[in-house]
Amino acid sequence: MGCCHHYFTQTPEGDDAFVVDASRIVFGPGCLAEAGQHAQALGMRRVGVFTDRGVLGHPYVETVTRALAAAGIDFAVYDQVKVEPTDGSFQDAARFATGGRFDGFVSVGGGSVIDTCKAANLYSSHPADLLAYVNAPIGEGRAVPGLLKPHIACPTTCGTGSEVTGVAVFDLSAKHLKTGISSRLLKPALALVDPAVAASLPATVVAASGFDALSHALEAYTALPYTRRARPANAALRPVYQGANPWSDASALQALESIGTHLVRAVRDAGDAEARTEMMYAGTLAGIAFGTAGCHIPHAMSYAVAGLVRDYRPPEYPQDHPMVPHGMAVILNAPSVYRWTAPGCPERHLHGAQCLGADARGATIVDAGEILAQRIIAMMQETLFPGGLAAIGFGEADAPALAEGAHPQQRLLTNSPRPVGKADLAGLFRGAMQYW
Ligand SMILES: [Fe+2]
Repeated sequence: MGCCHHYFTQTPEGDDAFVVDASRIVFGPGCLAEAGQHAQALGMRRVGVFTDRGVLGHPYVETVTRALAAAGIDFAVYDQVKVEPTDGSFQDAARFATGGRFDGFVSVGGGSVIDTCKAANLYSSHPADLLAYVNAPIGEGRAVPGLLKPHIACPTTCGTGSEVTGVAVFDLSAKHLKTGISSRLLKPALALVDPAVAASLPATVVAASGFDALSHALEAYTALPYTRRARPANAALRPVYQGANPWSDASALQALESIGTHLVRAVRDAGDAEARTEMMYAGTLAGIAFGTAGCHIPHAMSYAVAGLVRDYRPPEYPQDHPMVPHGMAVILNAPSVYRWTAPGCPERHLHGAQCLGADARGATIVDAGEILAQRIIAMMQETLFPGGLAAIGFGEADAPALAEGAHPQQRLLTNSPRPVGKADLAGLFRGAMQYW
């Protein structure tokens, strides 16, 4: 299937079926004002509205709450979502959800807000210790026991894709680890994607979230195929991240083509409504792709980059503490990773580069990794992004610690098209220090 049909050739030990997890999506300018009618159609009468302080400065939450009120729906707003949520902030949100006696939820914000709302919905619907549903081996990996309450997710950035995935990511503070909860039951009942929100985003935020989407699509497309992942003991428990499959390929490729055309334009010109609208849609498409295929090495490495940051403060983000925006922490690793993973599925690396707009005339599959790396690097330059991990404060001497931080992300790393160990990761971090 696709450009390289043999990628899904059956293997004796591998799975022979994949799951199509379709999402319900409403997409269009102004559709946030429909929130009340959609909530009503989902049977909601009392809604917990989740957001964060930053989003409250924009009119989106008011648009949504006004729509809920107009539909006769009672609501209460929780604005304490932490950007880069933690176990503590998840639990605080869950207490609000439990105390509010809600029959539905609406989240208005970026990935942190949507993920926090998923977790609050889960722990108020099926109370348990926080670690019960968290991915093993960090948590117990217990299966979510039943349906959650309906959740309408309204993204206000163009890239996380959280509105269409069954994954909620957080920092486990005591262990300084990023981990998460993944279950199809966590997926919002409806993604309400209003591209008008993109007009107000600062350029650095558009770039970071756009590169996050780019990497979601590329990682999903180059992930190990589902036919080379173990068949599950229980067919009903196929993992959310099941490896590349024809369904994720379709949305990944469409997302890559759109991002190749629109990302640089969307970053450079806030008034380019077409480019920003297309990036909103591409972010959702990329979410569909990685939401069923899974990500791999660039995301696994990003968690170590974000966790070990010293004093980097990105422009146009709150300056109160050092941080690396998620999409930036991901994409700075990407060229180094694709140079190395290309032998795992060179046709897909080359085709991915072409979808992003690379000129691959006369290229052979031996060049695939370099062509893809160069295309990503060119896009980073055109959006005035940092030129590697050195530009955000890391040095070669940090490579072992970074590798140590990324290595526990086995759920992601085992999805790589090329087996990767701790020493390989250190090499990949070294290769990501300086691209120009
Ligand atoms: Fe991401």
